[in-house]
Amino acid sequence: MVSRVIPVEPFDLVIFGGTGDLARRKILPGLYRRFVDGQMPAEARIIAAARSENTDAAFRDTVRAAISEFVTPEKQDATCIAAFLERLSYVRVDATGSDGWQTLADKMRKDVIRAYYFSVGPGLFGDLARRLHRHGIAGTRCRIVVEKPFGHDLESARDLNVTLAEHFDEQQIYRIDHYLGKETVQNLMAVRFGNMLFEPLWNARNVDHIQITVAETVGVGGRGGYYDKAGAMRDMVQNHMMQLLCLIAMEPPYAFEPDAVRDEKLKVIRALDHVEPEQIVRGQYLSDEDGPGYLEDVENPDSRTESFIAMKLNVSNWRWKGTPFYIRTGKRLRARTSEIAIVFKDPPHSIFGDQESHKSNVLVIRLQPNEGINLKVTIKEPGPGGMRLIEVPLDMSFKEALGPGADDIPDAYERLIMDVIRGNQTLFMRGDEVEAAWGWADPVIAGWEEGGDRPIPYDAGSSGPEDALMLMHRDGRRWREVKA
Ligand code: BG6
Repeated sequence: MVSRVIPVEPFDLVIFGGTGDLARRKILPGLYRRFVDGQMPAEARIIAAARSENTDAAFRDTVRAAISEFVTPEKQDATCIAAFLERLSYVRVDATGSDGWQTLADKMRKDVIRAYYFSVGPGLFGDLARRLHRHGIAGTRCRIVVEKPFGHDLESARDLNVTLAEHFDEQQIYRIDHYLGKETVQNLMAVRFGNMLFEPLWNARNVDHIQITVAETVGVGGRGGYYDKAGAMRDMVQNHMMQLLCLIAMEPPYAFEPDAVRDEKLKVIRALDHVEPEQIVRGQYLSDEDGPGYLEDVENPDSRTESFIAMKLNVSNWRWKGTPFYIRTGKRLRARTSEIAIVFKDPPHSIFGDQESHKSNVLVIRLQPNEGINLKVTIKEPGPGGMRLIEVPLDMSFKEALGPGADDIPDAYERLIMDVIRGNQTLFMRGDEVEAAWGWADPVIAGWEEGGDRPIPYDAGSSGPEDALMLMHRDGRRWREVKA
């Protein structure tokens, strides 16, 4: 596979929280990969800003170690690493005080794009935005990138939007949802709107239901403090899964342009019905030989926060009325797998009589691992013995179809950062979208909080609580297996 890499314009990228975990694992290794691929121009500079005392040399050493840990060996080239590290520097900056700001201001060049990545808690977004202005280093060619969580509920998200809007135009604000940067998520749009095959069938007349699964094998680990206040609903559903649902359910935008796409996604969120308690199953993982249970992980024996959630959602519009969307996500499940399955209806009449093996068509979009698309079709079982039907997959693994190079798909973060520099907001959430998603999530969360609901314990390494299976069985449907 030959991929075309077009270098972006020269830029100064400041990463607030530049020594944090996200910067170490994702942002900096991702930027290095873009550098190796020739997408980052020689004049680009990356400045890490954080509270602690540090030197350029010590910071570069930590980035060197991060590259060796998180970048595939084929991309690790001593000369490239040295050239990349030369572009890096460190500034000690106090987000809530005045220390370090003048030093940072002196470093910023006037004639290049300025991007400020807020890889810090949302409590500091306002402080950073204000100080960037006060020190004269914002300006019209500047962009800010804000990490999740974007608020904790509708009110806090609104407050954040208001605070940011005091200093930046919406066109300068890039709210990251890294799921939108995943290759297959974008492929979902290519499959839907780049082919005639699927779109005419993409509606309640032909689709029986849709399943979205994001299963993880990891537990909440060291993030218990944050996670226990969020739970799967705030951590995964309100943002990542909502975005996936929007891309599946939305109407064709008039162009693949930021506001055209975001307008259509917003309409989907607004068409989502309220979710009643009987449409929700929440769970908490138990301990096993591989690790502690949820309650021990978060050190809160009374926690009512869910590490698993399954829901049945209805989108009330002409296209989808009557076709439910079942979504589920959880930690410490059997396998790490994320997929979207579009399950089509049965043909209106079977000319072959009742055949057990005759199943409906299913289009599966695999987000990870082994990104690809799979369509299950019914054919005749070869050989004598009459007309027996079997189901076979038309399978397209990107790796197999695109050959060497498909392995080299950029990670979500590196793709999104390059979009920030290019000034392309298509894969970022607009303020009203985030507010609408919270506006939908808040009453659902309030429902279980008011009811005093407790999540159901489930075995680590399973596919979640039995009740989640029942959620579909009741409707005469079944989940696809959670398997690697
Ligand atoms: C993050 C959540 O946004 O997404 C994590 O905070 C979750 O809890 C992660 O593990 C999943 O992302 P990915 O890309 O590994 O599927």
